[in-house]
Amino acid sequence: MSNIGSYDERVKNFKWSLAEQELEYKDGDVINIGWYCSDRICEKGLANKTALIWEGRSPENLKKYTFNDLRLKSNTIGAFLKNQGISDGDRVCLFMDKVPELYLGLLGILKIGAVAQPLFSAFGDESLFVRLENAGTKAIITQKKHAGKVQKILDKLPNLEKIIIVDYDGRKPLREKEIAFDLEGSTPVEKLDIFPTKAESHSLLHYTSGTTGQPKGVKHVHYSLISQYLTTKWVLDLQPDDIYWCTADPGWVTGTSYGIIGPWSLGITSCVMDSGFSAEAWYAFMQRHKVTMWYSAPTAIRSLMKAGDESVKKFDLSSLRHLASVGEPLNAEAVIWSEKVFGKPFFDTYWQTETGSMMICNYPDMKVKPGSMGKAFPGLTAAILDDKTLEPITEHNKPGLIAFLPDWPACMRTYWNNEETFNKKFSKGWYLSGDKSTIDKDGYFWFVGRDDDVINTGGHLVSPFEVESALLEHEAVAESAVVAKPDQVNMEVVKAFVTLNPGWEAGDELELKIMNFIRKKLSPLAMPQEIEYMDKLPKTRSGKIMRRLLHAKEWGEEIGDTSTLEDD
Ligand code: PRX
Repeated sequence: MSNIGSYDERVKNFKWSLAEQELEYKDGDVINIGWYCSDRICEKGLANKTALIWEGRSPENLKKYTFNDLRLKSNTIGAFLKNQGISDGDRVCLFMDKVPELYLGLLGILKIGAVAQPLFSAFGDESLFVRLENAGTKAIITQKKHAGKVQKILDKLPNLEKIIIVDYDGRKPLREKEIAFDLEGSTPVEKLDIFPTKAESHSLLHYTSGTTGQPKGVKHVHYSLISQYLTTKWVLDLQPDDIYWCTADPGWVTGTSYGIIGPWSLGITSCVMDSGFSAEAWYAFMQRHKVTMWYSAPTAIRSLMKAGDESVKKFDLSSLRHLASVGEPLNAEAVIWSEKVFGKPFFDTYWQTETGSMMICNYPDMKVKPGSMGKAFPGLTAAILDDKTLEPITEHNKPGLIAFLPDWPACMRTYWNNEETFNKKFSKGWYLSGDKSTIDKDGYFWFVGRDDDVINTGGHLVSPFEVESALLEHEAVAESAVVAKPDQVNMEVVKAFVTLNPGWEAGDELELKIMNFIRKKLSPLAMPQEIEYMDKLPKTRSGKIMRRLLHAKEWGEEIGDTSTLEDD
């Protein structure tokens, strides 16, 4: 029997207070995610249960942590940060590969009431800078290999007081504002005063990309735990003996909501693999640790499909009990393939950085329709709205904007320093997701596409604006336009159109140089996979670049109305 049981029954009887009761939380109580994920699990008698199985680049590089270790080590990090002058409400950035300090650090930051700001460690200095500047970050916890990127932008970040290096080896002197912190070598702190955060206290700040403007800092609060706990229990269906693997990096919301908070608040053993993608390395990892529940993403699944069925057969994956996916459309073929090779489908889940927890999902005891995102989580009011009137569409299979009544616990509370953009996400009482979908006669949602120009590459959102701006910083580039280009594995990749400044010669060598420039400045995800040189970019008469035309060209779509296009 699954945790959710009958979906229809749950919908009928739903109250969020169910999760509150299980977590022994009452309105007005202290609620601290760091404490819930470690101390409380120990108090429940699971102190010696394995919480984290961590593997580095080779299987020999293995570390295991019990829930008591989580408690002590997060206390130790929390106490260290306090000694460094970090207090409640201060933003502390986590900028690391998937090393144990990242996971334990997040709990430590939350325990002292500070705000965790996780950032993807492959970000280049420009991506890092705009996010640290916007957040007014006070401290950053990082590794030697990433500290150089912080040094490069330090002069422009007056609020940044401490750069905490978790793997300092003494070979080079520490630089300005750097301080070493050795978690393994520190005396464990048995008792830490947990900051009495309340439901609305700020917990996390995750950055996400939009079509225009700089990235948006999505503010989450400690009360989000209520949604994350229950969705983990009902959708991921985690059971006490499960060995769970969430493949997402905590630089992104899946890696925190469901890589850390969900499983640990339920006292579940979680695995982490701190190395890049390879089909056989993934299968071997799951075989070694007897993974039972696996939460991944469509691009990874399509890459596994590409590696072939023979690869799967080399491994014993009989431990797998339940599989789920998030981040981009999960095509029907991937679901069917998964049934063939793993004997079970991937259950698609739909949600966003802003929603903080799963919104539309497939549930263990509900029929999976391959290609559909499933149905709204119990307790949510979801609708498809007409894009002009913003009234709900009642007709089946007619596309509209996905919207929710903003009354679930994990809903974002604002965009940091950007109330104006935040307010635009709400209209007529609805939270507007910015995605389009249809609903079929059985209430299943079918993803249609995004309602903006943001590029979803391999499940990661990239802002065309950020890439266009970075391109303009390259000395050869005069103008730029960036759109998504279709891709078999990543669904979309970044494509740039540029015009060159006088004296520059278009060619492969320059293309490579520009690509690398973006990779270093922004990230490998944002790097254009193709750069097309143009003599002139299509513009409206008022001088605005028409991305729409370039997009249509890439996707072989009708170009539509070009009446505002500049004459040749
Ligand atoms: O466009 C939708 C797509 O990813 C966006 C959210 O991205 P982000 O905030 O980075 O969060 C990703 C992980 C929660 C959505 O607006 N998306 C997410 N899940 C799905 C999806 N598109 C189709 N199907 C999904 N299951």
